[in-house]
Amino acid sequence: MVQQSAVSHTNRSNESYALITGASGGIGYEFARIFAHDGHNLILVARNAKKLNDIREYLEPKYGVSVITLPADLSAPNAATKLYKETRHRKLAVDHLVNNAGFGDLSGFLDRDLSRHEQMAQLNMVTLMQLTYLYGRDMRDAGFGRILNVSSVASMAAGPNMAMYYASKAFVRSLSEAVHEELRGTGVTVTALCPGPVSTGFEKAAQMSGQNFFTLAKPATPAHVAEYGYRKMLRGSALAYPNLIVHAANIGARLAPRSLSRKMCKWVNGIPQK
Ligand SMILES: NC(=O)c1ccc[n+]([C@@H]2O[C@H](COP(=O)([O-])OP(=O)(O)OC[C@H]3O[C@@H](n4cnc5c(N)ncnc54)[C@H](OP(=O)(O)O)[C@@H]3O)[C@@H](O)[C@H]2O)c1
Repeated sequence: MVQQSAVSHTNRSNESYALITGASGGIGYEFARIFAHDGHNLILVARNAKKLNDIREYLEPKYGVSVITLPADLSAPNAATKLYKETRHRKLAVDHLVNNAGFGDLSGFLDRDLSRHEQMAQLNMVTLMQLTYLYGRDMRDAGFGRILNVSSVASMAAGPNMAMYYASKAFVRSLSEAVHEELRGTGVTVTALCPGPVSTGFEKAAQMSGQNFFTLAKPATPAHVAEYGYRKMLRGSALAYPNLIVHAANIGARLAPRSLSRKMCKWVNGIPQK
């Protein structure tokens, strides 16, 4: 189950917490497991309260850490400020923040309800931005903090049939890289993790089962992606590309004309179901 410990650091206190969004499954669950294995107390957030509770019951006795579950729909407009106020109210100091919750959607842009796009914008971008801001300021005041924002290989180009998703992940990467640079010398770092395909619940939720994105190459495991992102975050790296596919996509996106890369992405994404 648990792989060998990733890099440890010395700034952790018994009173501090790692807050992980989207911790009820997939990559987020693996983050929770890895943080707990390294002795971090956890605040876990997702909509599914039962899954979070099951994870708490598994991790707390196994690793001797404190696990607090705060179920929430982070696509709700005030979700980030409510979450932040709740942790302040409970006097929980957050020194590690993992903005992992997010979803994709294979569909023509004009063929989905506007509310679906708004939900994605809120979850993938606005809530992530607000949590980065709110906890980022506390971390800067404290002189230490690590923020890991989960972007995607999709951040590197425009993605027809997943237009909003690609745009949202480009936002995450751009914001994270810029704030990383602004915070140089403060003790706080921001890392953008850019996975390629990963075998999680994402594929089904995005209605991408059997599409090229998930069949052209073997998807990575969520454990590998989380472990890699965790290590890069602890080192304070700006970017984390967990495997060769992502490095290749990065080079391809830089060299290929935009007109070609967006056609490639359209083919890779696949055909939306009617
Ligand atoms: N899998 C891939 O191929 C891939 C590739 C690149 C990037 N990513 C990114 O990796 C991140 C994690 O995705 P995953 O692959 O682990 O997918 P996943 O298995 O579907 O997990 C998504 C997590 O986000 C939570 N979540 C979804 N909507 C939420 C909401 N409205 N409020 C609060 N939590 C919510 C889910 O929990 P609940 O349902 O309990 O709320 C779940 O814990 C996402 O940001 C995704 O865009 C994934």
